[in-house]
Amino acid sequence: MRKKIVAGNWKMNMLQDEASQLVNDIIKEVKSTNDAITNEQEIIIIPPFPWIPDAVKQVDGYDNISVGAQNSYHEPRGAFTGEVSPEMIKSTGAEYIIVGHSERRSYFNESNEFLKQKVNAVLEAQLTPIFCCGEPLETRESNKQNELIEKQIQESLFHLNKEQISNLIIAYEPVWAIGTGKTATPEQAQEMHHFIRQLIAKKYGDTVAENIVLLYGGSCKPNNAVELFSKNDVDGGLIGGASLKAKDFIEIVQSFN
Ligand code: 13P
Repeated sequence: MRKKIVAGNWKMNMLQDEASQLVNDIIKEVKSTNDAITNEQEIIIIPPFPWIPDAVKQVDGYDNISVGAQNSYHEPRGAFTGEVSPEMIKSTGAEYIIVGHSERRSYFNESNEFLKQKVNAVLEAQLTPIFCCGEPLETRESNKQNELIEKQIQESLFHLNKEQISNLIIAYEPVWAIGTGKTATPEQAQEMHHFIRQLIAKKYGDTVAENIVLLYGGSCKPNNAVELFSKNDVDGGLIGGASLKAKDFIEIVQSFN
């Protein structure tokens, strides 16, 4: 059975005290709601780089809560001022790295080819990439979303072998739904997740496709998570805004039927 995952991408939010408070509040919420997470579920907290080591320490001992990073460079070390490598992130105890968030693609011009290198580097460090794909509004309006998602996945992931692709999570985040309050309908999310799973099946076979975790991201909130997560191919969410409030975040975590 596929794991149910809810990951909180804090983006560039939270000062040091606020960050440690939020992690504590998340832990408190989990403890106070006994059934908040089952063994088949995982919560991933993804704070800005400087707060990762503290977050890792804070969640130590909670089996179903892990920590990740929002980005990394594709080289393990060297003269790359300002960059952070997957090895460094791994050495803090974090386990996941987001690759190819639409904000990285658009503000930092990260191409499919560049993201391919990042995916390789994250896997090389034995961490799990959370690979993001998603179409902008114009693409959805001209009904070309499937072609675009196929291209993003093909160009950044299809060089991987079966074992490598099995160690990766894919997040579908339609750009028009991110931070806009405009969520994809559960049907739109299911349709795209199903399409992605079929792409994986065609290339890697049914078993790999059946086991790969597909998350939905884009204005996922406590009031729409239940419906989104009820869809067959939606295995959880990558949450932005609503992950900054412990109560909302844990309500989303509890949205699986
Ligand atoms: P919002 O939930 O704020 O729309 O952000 C989604 C996202 O980009 C998560 O990575």
